[in-house]
Amino acid sequence: MNTARVRVFAVSLVLLGLTACFEQVAPEWFAQMKQQKAIQALEGARPLDPPPGTVPFGGMAPRIDSPVPAFSPEGMALANPVPATPESLERGKEVFGIYCALCHGEDGMANLETTTVAKRLAANGMVPPSLQAVPGYTDGFLFTKIRYGRPQMPGYPQIPERDRWHVVNYLRTLMNKES
Ligand code: HEC
Repeated sequence: MNTARVRVFAVSLVLLGLTACFEQVAPEWFAQMKQQKAIQALEGARPLDPPPGTVPFGGMAPRIDSPVPAFSPEGMALANPVPATPESLERGKEVFGIYCALCHGEDGMANLETTTVAKRLAANGMVPPSLQAVPGYTDGFLFTKIRYGRPQMPGYPQIPERDRWHVVNYLRTLMNKES
């Protein structure tokens, strides 16, 4: 008799214990952590805006909305933060050689005999100008021209900002050759 009682008691204890493994406890009884108020991923919530006055440390400058951004006042007014040190000119020359020389020529002259792509463009009425003879544009103009191109030149937003300023510094050395 006693043993049977103990058995029933033990079995009910085990059964009761098992129920704890399932979520059968009413939330009104015990608060459950997963039922807290939380924003789940992809729930449509927008990340917080950075506090006012935050200075961007990476990414890209906002796009300039203009048909030819290089000629926009914002583009022209950009100031060159990179001094034209020998290292800057060397890097500018390297980047120019990668991206620009195929149309404008190694020396910026776009010699149609030696610069194959320039020759082909010229045949289609799109002659790349000699960079040694371009007018006295601002650094901001050149920087913006490289980013967006236009009207006929392709833009090179993939050239990182600092490298673009190096190219601007290098362009100045090409341009000054004539004067
Ligand atoms: C696919 C050929 C091509 C490539 C590559 C190219 N350009 Fe040009 N570029 C042109 C053509 C064509 C023009 C003239 C039409 C125009 O301004 O869009 C031009 C114009 C320019 C001008 C303006 C000249 C003026 O008087 O308005 C500058 C400055 C210039 N390019 C610099 C560069 C630099 C720097 C690079 C490299 C990052 C580069 N270009 C790459 C074809 C090219």
